Amino acid sequence: MESGGPAHRRRPLIVRALGIETSCDETAVALVEADASGLTLVNQRLATRPEESSALGGIVPELTVRQHLELLPGITRAVMAEGPLEAVGATAGPGLAPALLVGLAFGKSLAWARHSSFHAINHLEGHIFSPFVSRGKWPEYPHLALIASGGHTLLVDAPDSTGRSVLGSTRDDAAGEAFDKLARMVGLGYPGGPEIEKEAARGEVGKIKLPRPMKGSEEGDFSFSGLKNAARLLLEKDPGLAEPGLPRAHFCAEAQAAIAECLADRCRLALRRTGRKLLTVSGGVSANRMVSRALEEAARAEGACLMAPVQGWNTDNAAMIAAVTARRHLDGADSDWETDVDPRWSVASGQKAA
Ligand code: KG4
Ligand code: ZN
Repeated sequence: MESGGPAHRRRPLIVRALGIETSCDETAVALVEADASGLTLVNQRLATRPEESSALGGIVPELTVRQHLELLPGITRAVMAEGPLEAVGATAGPGLAPALLVGLAFGKSLAWARHSSFHAINHLEGHIFSPFVSRGKWPEYPHLALIASGGHTLLVDAPDSTGRSVLGSTRDDAAGEAFDKLARMVGLGYPGGPEIEKEAARGEVGKIKLPRPMKGSEEGDFSFSGLKNAARLLLEKDPGLAEPGLPRAHFCAEAQAAIAECLADRCRLALRRTGRKLLTVSGGVSANRMVSRALEEAARAEGACLMAPVQGWNTDNAAMIAAVTARRHLDGADSDWETDVDPRWSVASGQKAA
């Protein structure tokens, strides 16, 4: 899909790139300024209606699409400063198809009207960029990237800027989804990760026992459904765990530790196998302090370093999409105007949106 215009034509100079993110329930737009040495975030806006999803028990596609349609023009106007706009990029996948279509169509129209280059961006590539671009730098290679969000849990090996392979993924729930479901079981709100982290601060790990699925396995994948099932059985025996109080705090501390240990264990195995010396983590779950501490320890044990996004860049945002857009523009890797969305677009190289 990345043809359209002379392929891989290097463009020097400074680029102003706009990124549009509508893969799920956040409507987000950001503007970055970049050159070969790095980039700066000029402006960004993000809008979401979590109370609506929370009240309805999840995302309702039609409401989400209407939100994107209503909010995109105003948010974009607020983000776009005076001056030239060399590149426009929009998330084309993975994500919710109708939501992606709104952002992609809006992005194409804007790029067409402003005579900018147009780029269909992979949301997961945005996450992989975020630890670096949140510090104004382009990604360093080689590295190993853990993406842990509400929709994905992936370990990706990135030997260079063009080759990426998936070493492990979740067999059932994503790590963020596990946080969300466990939080819901004990009567906490959505998104569950920050709620569990807050509650866990008063609790103690080990007071309540939960399993660490796949920990110690020689296979590279993640699995969190066993944790959820064990928690359900515990709650059936002791419904008091879902009431405010110390037992619930102990439950949250144990659940958080279990997820953190599982993530760290799989990363340690992958570091040992690949010999990579840089581990990155991104996605909403990377905002969790116990998770980042566990990953830091795993990296140190394998003689590697951990790099997490600067606070505010962990969860979904458009700045990471604008950053990938700028990189694509500088590399002359424009997308075809005909590019469609791909709700299941893989982050592995060579697998493009249809
Ligand atoms: O990356 P993200 O914003 O969206 C997706 O692409 O899914 O991640 C959202 C997920 C939610 O499941 C949320 O519970 C989790 O990230 N999350 C956290 C924390 N903050 C957000 N999980 C654990 N601890 C946190 N502090
Ligand atoms: Zn995401």
